[in-house]
Amino acid sequence: MSTNTPKNTQIWLPFTQMSEITKNPPIEIKKAKGAWLYDNNNNKYLDAVASWWVSALGHNNPKIAKAIGEQAKKLDQVIFANCTHTGAQEVAKKVLNLLPNKLQKVFFSDNGSTAVEVSLKLALQYHHQTGNPQKTKIMSLNDAYHGDTIGAMSVSGTEHFFAPYKPMLFKSPKIKNWNKLEQTIIKHAHKTAAIIVEPLIQAAGGMKIYHIKHLQQLAKLCKKHNVLVIYDEIATGFGRTGTMFAMDQIGTSNLYAPDMVCLSKGLTGGTVAMSITACSNKIYKAFLGPYSANKTFFHGHSYTANPIACAASIATLDIFANQNIIKNMQKNMQYFNDCAQKFAKNLPLKNFRALGWVAAWDIDDVRKSQKQRLSPIITKTALKYGLLIRPLGNVLYFWPPITLTKTEIDFMFNTTKKVLNEIMI
Ligand SMILES: Cc1ncc(COP(=O)(O)O)c(C=O)c1O
Repeated sequence: MSTNTPKNTQIWLPFTQMSEITKNPPIEIKKAKGAWLYDNNNNKYLDAVASWWVSALGHNNPKIAKAIGEQAKKLDQVIFANCTHTGAQEVAKKVLNLLPNKLQKVFFSDNGSTAVEVSLKLALQYHHQTGNPQKTKIMSLNDAYHGDTIGAMSVSGTEHFFAPYKPMLFKSPKIKNWNKLEQTIIKHAHKTAAIIVEPLIQAAGGMKIYHIKHLQQLAKLCKKHNVLVIYDEIATGFGRTGTMFAMDQIGTSNLYAPDMVCLSKGLTGGTVAMSITACSNKIYKAFLGPYSANKTFFHGHSYTANPIACAASIATLDIFANQNIIKNMQKNMQYFNDCAQKFAKNLPLKNFRALGWVAAWDIDDVRKSQKQRLSPIITKTALKYGLLIRPLGNVLYFWPPITLTKTEIDFMFNTTKKVLNEIMI
């Protein structure tokens, strides 16, 4: 299969070493359908990373596309202060219906990183306005990834991405060892506003899965020490972990439910950028008062609650509900898991882990001694065979649309096996 190289050299791609662009040129995609991307020559590629984890339902779902088209003709955009619209109200209602009762309000923004920034600012301002202005720290987990803006980087642990910016990042006390959770929280609680976590799986930090019981313990300790809990479900939301949200597996009663949740990616079925930070009434109420009390949340983005994105989100949430996606995906998800369990046999892979529609392995990198980065070689070879995968360093993982068929699952595993056999053995 020949790849299709665009001539345009004026674009600076994200997370891409541009000096390698001639060696590893991007493919120009002209259309997409379901799990498949098509280039200008009509070569097709199975999107095993759901296009940076957003296309939960696959690409170009006709119901979402129709909703976007119809909305664009009615109301494209409106300032979301002084004005509101039914689309935003409907998204808020539908999303809150899916979340634990504790979460009662939504604040819109336009990507995952901004949803995280909103949660961090809300946490600090909440404590500032409830008599604890000394609570200015945000705790986080080792190996966390919460986005690329300054606050999000500060609470992330993926330091190799962020090394040059370290001097401008704020310090975030890290939970390094679950066995020492209580001691760590007690040590920092008096000055800590919140703890932010990716529940159950740290995705970009290396697909690290951890146990429900740690999050249950975290919830209890945080409640006791007046520390807010923020769940970043930007990657885990909308079916990825086998339930609608990872938090559904941890417990949604007031005992375990977080104080805030960040959502994006699958929120619009992977079509238009939008995000939400949902919070409890307790937090919301701390921001009420006369204007002169200066309790207003001074935060907003130009495209906040964009009506077209809201229409995409309503259509997405309707598909999840009407087509009972979470229940109906279980069979194929089990098949995906069965295939993943067997996959590493005779391949240079170790440390298998899986959760819902995620499976990952560490690659026993035979080329390390040759100082060659394996990830771009795997991606390039896979594209040759019609598969888009993008290992995270030496972590090989699958994160496909949750609507993948058994035939597509077979294709994904068989092609990856072929790729690994070709370049590693
Ligand atoms: C858990 C998590 N939080 C936040 C983000 C940042 O989202 P965005 O890339 O939309 O800014 C990501 C992106 O992958 C993520 O995985």
